Amino acid sequence: MGLENPFLPYLATIKSTVELTPDVKLLRVELEDAAIRGSFDYKPGQFAFLSAFGEGEAPFGIVSLPRHQDDLEFAVRQIGTVTRALHELEPGDTLGVRGPFGNYFPLEDYAGKNMVIIGGGIGMAPLRPVINKILEQRDNYGNLLVINGARTPQDLVFRPEFQTWMEAPRTQLELTVDRGDEHWGGRVALVPDVLRELAPSPDNAIAIICGPPIMIHFTLAVLKGLGFKDDQIVTTLEAKMKCGLGKCARCNVGDKYVCQDGPVFTLEQISQFLEQP
Ligand code: FES
Repeated sequence: MGLENPFLPYLATIKSTVELTPDVKLLRVELEDAAIRGSFDYKPGQFAFLSAFGEGEAPFGIVSLPRHQDDLEFAVRQIGTVTRALHELEPGDTLGVRGPFGNYFPLEDYAGKNMVIIGGGIGMAPLRPVINKILEQRDNYGNLLVINGARTPQDLVFRPEFQTWMEAPRTQLELTVDRGDEHWGGRVALVPDVLRELAPSPDNAIAIICGPPIMIHFTLAVLKGLGFKDDQIVTTLEAKMKCGLGKCARCNVGDKYVCQDGPVFTLEQISQFLEQP
């Protein structure tokens, strides 16, 4: 949708909150103006600013899928003043929403391809709408492999959806943690090791990854070892964003700004930005 004034937040109300992990909350947010709510269109990978009045605003990936008149969802990890204030909001409380901004995962271009989605920790947040979009249009894509890692079982962000993901046709969900607990019967392994073991074919495939830098580093090495080319590997660098406005210069990749030119890039694009003199 076109924004009349991109600097003015829309008023919104918290509909509900869900504690996803000890430090991540899902905020379900309803835009107050029905006309804006009905025309607020966005795609997986785009972000919006949430403002806790009196505390400030910060950019967050939108983790829901666009459906007419639906609530917007954000997975907010508590890491500072704004996110603490957002965590304290309760149903009925008011906040501001500005967006949507940024580019998105070009899922239409991936029709017919096998999809490998790899996420670590809160890095699963921008991948959740990607997975749900693929499942919503399941026949448009080939096999779907999701590898989701976290430090502990409690840190796996979208547990309430695992059953749905696991039961979807031609879909494989592999969960792994760095450290299990007495209830955990799954894998205890690092994401790159799980990827190496599963060894998905690069043929007609796209890999989308998001997670901590150390995970990305070693996962990229495995993907390349499996034969994935740079234009088959896609990521979102949304975690690099701070102001989200092109002003703080803290999100640069080469001479590009993640908040202005991204946050979604192929590895091929990132390599080109870094090579530019
Ligand atoms: S996040 Fe500040 S310039 Fe991009």
